[in-house]
Amino acid sequence: MSHEHHGHSHSHGHGHSHGHGHSHGAGEGKTGDGAVDYAEQNANFNSEEYARMTETVPEWQAMVDAQRAFVAAQEWWSAESSKTYKTLDFGCGTGRLLCGMGARLGAGSVGLDPAAGMLTVAREHAVEDGLTSVVTFDSIDPAKDGAELDSFADSFDLVLNVLVLHHLSKPKAIVERLIKALAPGGRIFIVERADGFSLDQLKSLFAAAGIEVTAEMTRDFDIPPFNGNPATTMTAYHVLGQKAI
Ligand SMILES: C[S@@+](CC[C@H](N)C(=O)[O-])C[C@H]1O[C@@H](n2cnc3c(N)ncnc32)[C@H](O)[C@@H]1O
Repeated sequence: MSHEHHGHSHSHGHGHSHGHGHSHGAGEGKTGDGAVDYAEQNANFNSEEYARMTETVPEWQAMVDAQRAFVAAQEWWSAESSKTYKTLDFGCGTGRLLCGMGARLGAGSVGLDPAAGMLTVAREHAVEDGLTSVVTFDSIDPAKDGAELDSFADSFDLVLNVLVLHHLSKPKAIVERLIKALAPGGRIFIVERADGFSLDQLKSLFAAAGIEVTAEMTRDFDIPPFNGNPATTMTAYHVLGQKAI
């Protein structure tokens, strides 16, 4: 598969991969060099059980908590505690981060993901958290490179894209589309694994789309053995930016 950012391959182990949407053929689970083959993980990709399993890993929850805390620590977030954010989460997975925004989630919020199993669990969270009147979870076609986003021009106060970029064949094009979906002055929050992108690459994606980086955080997370991958430490970059007003 081709990637716009150089040097990245999917052959390294992803400690907590949720699978992804590329269409691979059947796989053996490991490539010849012992690295993880995503084809096998993808066999389970649309499985609801698989999505639920990701939620039993406490370290995964710790990552979601760290993401939420990072946003909540921003001055603009705490300045007006009753302000709500119409939010898009592209590659929302089980919808934890989106639903975790609770009362701060604005009407018309959307979670998009190609995996039916992820969406089923995300919709359950919306029901449990009483958020069905403000958020919908919809399916996207991974082959369309985010074309579905074009109907949302200038709509969102906040766009989330968490641990998804390394799954995409055209990350740059998708970041551009995500930024188009932002309203003027809207915020974009991207989280990515250090073995998928460098911090410089992430910042260049923002810069290329004319976005000012307003905050960043680098954090390590210990990931236990999961889904056939060995235990690992995952370094994650968290980058927040704002679209010009
Ligand atoms: C590592 S998980 C992260 C999920 C969620 N953002 C989180 O942090 O828990 C990667 C997600 O990317 C989604 N994904 C894979 N390919 C995609 C694509 N082409 N477009 C959008 N999302 C994709 C997967 O379905 C999966 O839910």
